[in-house]
Amino acid sequence: MNHLFSPFKFKALELKNRIVMPPMCQYSVEKKDGVATDWHYLHYVNRAIGGAGFIIIEMTDVDPDGRITDNDLGLWSDEQVPALARIVEACHQYGAKVGIQIAHAGRKAVDAPVPVAPSAIPFDENSKTPRALSTEEVKEMVEKFRKAVKRAINAGVDAIEIHGAHGYLIHQFHSPLTNKRDDEYGKDLTKFGSDIIQAAKREMPNDMPLIMRISAKEFVEGGYGIKESIEFAKKYQQAGVDMFHISSGGEGPIGSRGKPGTHAGYQVPLARDIKNALHVPVIAVGRLDDPILANSVIGNEDADLVAVGRGMLRNPHWALEAATILNKETEVPKQYLAGF
Ligand SMILES: Cc1cc2nc3c(=O)[nH]c(=O)nc-3n(C[C@H](O)[C@H](O)[C@H](O)COP(=O)(O)O)c2cc1C
Repeated sequence: MNHLFSPFKFKALELKNRIVMPPMCQYSVEKKDGVATDWHYLHYVNRAIGGAGFIIIEMTDVDPDGRITDNDLGLWSDEQVPALARIVEACHQYGAKVGIQIAHAGRKAVDAPVPVAPSAIPFDENSKTPRALSTEEVKEMVEKFRKAVKRAINAGVDAIEIHGAHGYLIHQFHSPLTNKRDDEYGKDLTKFGSDIIQAAKREMPNDMPLIMRISAKEFVEGGYGIKESIEFAKKYQQAGVDMFHISSGGEGPIGSRGKPGTHAGYQVPLARDIKNALHVPVIAVGRLDDPILANSVIGNEDADLVAVGRGMLRNPHWALEAATILNKETEVPKQYLAGF
């Protein structure tokens, strides 16, 4: 039976354990140029030293106006590649594999003078009203994703994660609440995401997995649920997604329909449902920072990998400590052996 420290192999991605650091924005670009800084280097390399098997670099945007804030990472220019390559190389040196989340914030781009979206519907009453992209601009946006993926591959990553969750641009296209278009990208709500997936795949080596993060459930009034997300995830799978990373929410202000859970493992049932319906590997995330609970998610075959976000912000050596608690073998850096 597999456990948190069982190796994982899928296509060319070989992980020493099943512990993932999920993408977490650091809002730490200093010059507003989208280039990773020493903070990013230290932040990611420390988690590699701390034993995480797979590190997914935070939301990295395909366009300056696709950033949540002007302090976010970008991959719209070749000049942004070397700083990321330095991070990837060092993480590899310490035994972690690296993915990167490629994204556009759409109407949630707070610092964009006029954010863009599928339709001119603001996130809430305090947000800027976005401008609806023309059909031509949607096609150009797909190209921006393709080029960012190409640059990520040039930076040496082991996998690509497309951000289709949390109410950002791709999510805005596949949610009926935010896509009121009458062109081909409104008639088929998954066309934008599918075009991006196919464009990304054209740049990726055949054996490199394409991961997609989705919100499997919306929390606003009238939002979609797991039944609908299984259907759109199937479309994305047909377009080329190899693995899903299952989150929820982010589409708008929380309505009376329901609030996100705040209990341990609250999104695991969603990950299990997608895994069982699509027969794909999935990453579970959300309040899984108790190693015993995280281990049970793998042992019970609810998910293939477990991501620990805030737990790793608190403790960069989360994985090494989990091995101690679970009494599993893992390689501790020789400099730190005395601590374990
Ligand atoms: C500071 C912070 C930044 C985040 N940034 C991102 C991001 O860039 N992309 C994303 O998909 N999720 C982001 N998230 C969500 C996390 O990846 C994760 O899904 C969430 O924190 C739940 O997992 P946890 O309970 O283990 O923290 C962020 C979360 C935090 C706390």
